[in-house]
Amino acid sequence: MDNRKKGLEDVIAVETKIAYIDGIKGILAYRGINVADLMDYSYEEVSHLLLKGYLPDESELSDYITTLRNERELDSGVIDILRICNKQADAMDVLRTAVSYISQYDADYNDNSVDANTRKAVKMIAKFPTIVAAFYRIINGLEPVSPDSELGHGANFLYMLKGTRPTELEAEIMEKDLILSAEHGLNASTFASRITASTLSDIHSAIISGICTLKGPLHGGARLGAMNMLDEIGSIDNVENFVEECIIAKKRIAGFGHRVYKTYDPRARVYRNLAKELSYEDAENGWYEIAERLEDVVNREFVKKSAKIIYPNVDFYAAVAYKYLSIPAQLSTSIFALGRVAGWTSHCLEQYEDNRLIRPRAKFIWRIYDK
Ligand code: SDX
Repeated sequence: MDNRKKGLEDVIAVETKIAYIDGIKGILAYRGINVADLMDYSYEEVSHLLLKGYLPDESELSDYITTLRNERELDSGVIDILRICNKQADAMDVLRTAVSYISQYDADYNDNSVDANTRKAVKMIAKFPTIVAAFYRIINGLEPVSPDSELGHGANFLYMLKGTRPTELEAEIMEKDLILSAEHGLNASTFASRITASTLSDIHSAIISGICTLKGPLHGGARLGAMNMLDEIGSIDNVENFVEECIIAKKRIAGFGHRVYKTYDPRARVYRNLAKELSYEDAENGWYEIAERLEDVVNREFVKKSAKIIYPNVDFYAAVAYKYLSIPAQLSTSIFALGRVAGWTSHCLEQYEDNRLIRPRAKFIWRIYDK
């Protein structure tokens, strides 16, 4: 079986009304709206669009925001769990643990109805940022900061993380980051969530499948890999050598390449501009210049090596933006999950509606032992 088939490349496994992706033209749309046209909306509006299928009007948005922001707080049991987690653990492992704990006490614990699952989805969207921020403060010897219901999703996360309100630019970048991370069709973690939901297991379990899958370095873990890569390169003068060593060692360059996009990832284009904007505010660190040079050298070398370009994906310039926002690398993939939880939960609701077990076949390639 060739490699492409092994990875289910180009296999249509489900029908969806949530994301449209054109990997050749580099187009991504959420519920039919091009993601570039959603950049001036809030993450709360976009998560409503993904979950319910439409952008809310003023009164729907006000109700939705009230519900979301009332659900941001964590109960003391969750904080206790965060306090006993391994301080060295990747925040994705802690997020997985916290969601598993929360699920056991949810008022809709045994209810798999659409309304109950929508309530559980909204609670996870609301609580994920509080979990990640609280964990980070606890491992740094600080007390968790309670959510501020005056602040939007991205700004509130940065406030709970740092204990001070972000600048307007920081808040804008974080909000856009969450929107760009929110949904991407049948990527590996969303597929994992849908497979779990297809067995009619509960939505918390399906989201935990997504968290565990996103963590991998070939998927959302590439954001961590790209942040560490920027530190490893350190200066624009080291880029050429770094790429040469990767090619010789046949080492994957984190944040480059994509299973679907065979052109520039439309999200990377937005992130690149956001990272460039942040670079103007920080004359000291040359992360954006390193990233730009890396992109040029990778293109040049890959065209030489295999006559094809590999482009930056969503994680590459997101990692650059995180460096400028002083986001700790240990949290990088979990922040991807803060955005993606809206996509995961939307796909779970769609899968429950499909009500069809996802169960492909495997081709047996060994031998049968006769008695
Ligand atoms: C995300 O699916 C989604 O939508 C995911 C995502 C989402 O929003 O959910 O977009 C988020 O996960 C983005 C991808 C993050 N991962 C990385 O950045 C890790 C590095 N990238 C890769 O390992 C790779 O590009 C994948 C896994 C993302 C895609 O791999 P494919 O489709 O299986 O492509 P491939 O491995 O067949 O590569 C084709 C060629 C190979 O060369 P040859 O063996 O044919 O000579 O391109 C080369 C690869 O070696 N290649 C790379 C490379 N990516 C592909 N070489 C070096 N560095 C890379 N990053």
